[in-house]
Amino acid sequence: MKAVEIRKDIYWVGAIDWSMRSFHGYETSRGSSYNAYLILDEKITLIDTVKEPFKEELLERVASVIDPAKIDYIISNHVEPDHSGSLPFMMAHCPNAKVITSVPNGLKGLKARYGDLPYEGVKAGDTLSLGKRTLQFVPTPMLHWPDSMVTYCPEEKILFSNDAFGQHLASGSRFDDENDLSVLYYEAKKYYANILTLYGRQAQAALKALQGLDIEMIATGHGIIWRSHIKEIHDLYEKWSTGVLEKRAVVVFDT
Ligand SMILES: [Fe+2]
Ligand SMILES: [Fe+2]
Repeated sequence: MKAVEIRKDIYWVGAIDWSMRSFHGYETSRGSSYNAYLILDEKITLIDTVKEPFKEELLERVASVIDPAKIDYIISNHVEPDHSGSLPFMMAHCPNAKVITSVPNGLKGLKARYGDLPYEGVKAGDTLSLGKRTLQFVPTPMLHWPDSMVTYCPEEKILFSNDAFGQHLASGSRFDDENDLSVLYYEAKKYYANILTLYGRQAQAALKALQGLDIEMIATGHGIIWRSHIKEIHDLYEKWSTGVLEKRAVVVFDT
């Protein structure tokens, strides 16, 4: 299991779940992925983990780049177990790591699930220096959980967006421009409809909070990474979250 370099010294180290067919009760016919990212800087940082059954895969991918014991920070953007499930396992392999999470809800949620770990809470506007790079934290409450946040790296212009902009899609290639766009948009829409529809107002607030960030890459928590169609997926989120209606004809029939 090898890591995939997505930018110099930044790696995708997640896991592909080819056989997952149901997520939160909706059918996921194309599987999914749990995306985690490793940043090599003066401080070595892991952004999110993966679903628990895939923990060895995560560790192996990290180890293909660096000794996991060297990790200084694990950023937990979201408490849900598809992103945090391997946190205790990783902490056992990263004795010096601090867990960075949102306050108060990330902290509360992780403590309830995994007990005491060396947590550090962050709020809107907080930054973390990794050396050459900085991480900025942007809370996105109720997108789709109270603890949800995204992490932005201004030097790389990468947004680590966790559940936002994701798709349940297993693919052998990591980027939007390496996949069939019509499938990506379909799966992104299906994901939005099933996971985020109820939170249109919060999605609007999140889009507003992200306004002004210069984004060249959206490193999602599920599915592919957006690098060539950032404006398109952003505009789709704008459209879906404002509930723009399209004229449709419905044919009702019975036999
Ligand atoms: Fe989630
Ligand atoms: Fe998720």
